Amino acid sequence: MNKSRIVKGGGNLQGEIKVPGDKSISHRSLILASIAEGASYIKGFLYSEDPLSTANCLRNLGVKIPKIVKDESFEIKGVGLDGFSEPKEILDCGNSGTTMRLLIGLLAGKKGKNFILKGDNSLSERPMGRVCKPLRLMGGKIFGRENGNKAPISIMGEKLKGGVIGTPVASAQVKSAILLAGLTASGSTSVIEPASSRDHTERMLKAFGAKIEIRGELGRNIVINPGRDLAGQEILIPGDISSAAFWMIAGSIIPNSNIKIKNVGLNPTRTGILDVMDSMGCNYEIKEKRLIAGEPIGDINVKTASHLNSFIIEGDILPKLIDEIPILTVAACFCQGISYIKDAAELRVKETDRLKVMARQLRKFGANIEEKEDGLIIKGDSKFVSAEVDSETDHRVSMSLAIASIMAKGSSTINRADASNVSYPNFWNDLELLL
Ligand code: S3P
Repeated sequence: MNKSRIVKGGGNLQGEIKVPGDKSISHRSLILASIAEGASYIKGFLYSEDPLSTANCLRNLGVKIPKIVKDESFEIKGVGLDGFSEPKEILDCGNSGTTMRLLIGLLAGKKGKNFILKGDNSLSERPMGRVCKPLRLMGGKIFGRENGNKAPISIMGEKLKGGVIGTPVASAQVKSAILLAGLTASGSTSVIEPASSRDHTERMLKAFGAKIEIRGELGRNIVINPGRDLAGQEILIPGDISSAAFWMIAGSIIPNSNIKIKNVGLNPTRTGILDVMDSMGCNYEIKEKRLIAGEPIGDINVKTASHLNSFIIEGDILPKLIDEIPILTVAACFCQGISYIKDAAELRVKETDRLKVMARQLRKFGANIEEKEDGLIIKGDSKFVSAEVDSETDHRVSMSLAIASIMAKGSSTINRADASNVSYPNFWNDLELLL
């Protein structure tokens, strides 16, 4: 990963694009199709490094996943809940936290089989204890560096028992790992979250026929009952709002812009960015709202805002916009007044420490950002100068810096720009198209 990109400042963005498939839903489509009985059809899959890591791991577990071709739908014949074989190879999760955490949950209950999972440098430093600890409470035998907190992770499959599990962080990856483990545990498993995180796993498990109940305020208590096979389904994957976010913010802050983004997933557990855009006073409209495969979607038209208010992000909204903090940090630089991002310590354990990295990189353009332990304070009304910046290997940082570069005077260089391949391989082409 060492490709640099040069972005000229001062342009505007016009036109219509379709963002790639949702990354979270793409991972889950592969996993549930693999453990179902019968065939599943997957359409709109995100052809990018992270979901392809999940596909490779599942192939190593004995699932016949065809060669996936960009923009083509495909079929997976599931092997059933007990159909994985013991892999000869180490399961390589690449840069993908979702792959590693969901697979740990899925594999912990495969009695009599052993599995080893590894990741790249970034993933090997990310916390896995948050999934290993609750799975150990269910009887899981999971080991790794730093007492099972870091990869490589080794799993000795065991029959798991259900129970009531409270998670200390609102994380869809943790919740999903426990729910996947619960599918074959003895007795029901109840997950209680401190705040509601994205619910794609629950929606898809329900569609596949799992016995799952959503209880409590805002769906924070999810109960999965074992004993039912999953049945293959047709899965239509909407566009990823986390990829659309770059254009939603670019269209708002870059003068004379007008962008139509088609087919964007609008699941309410993911739309925190729209709430922030409302408080900023952004000029956008959602059209053609519809439901596909149990997920709400729509087209978003966004035009440059005449005035942008500063904003505060804190509390329960964080999980609903967790991946959008890097681009919202760029937005804050161009709002009037001071913006605050609080309660965001989770950002420190993403693909990079996104609070530190965004502050460090945006300061090179002249941004005025103060880093706090759990957030950022960003002074608005910035005038960006051109700069040489670096994604530091983080896909969302790379794309956020691209949008920031357009706001700078002169040409900027983004090093390790191809980090964007993790979630949005076509990003640079789409940018060219809109410029
Ligand atoms: C994801 C959940 C979120 C998110 C990540 C994808 C998922 O992570 O940041 O990009 O697909 O479940 P956490 O569960 O760690 O919050």
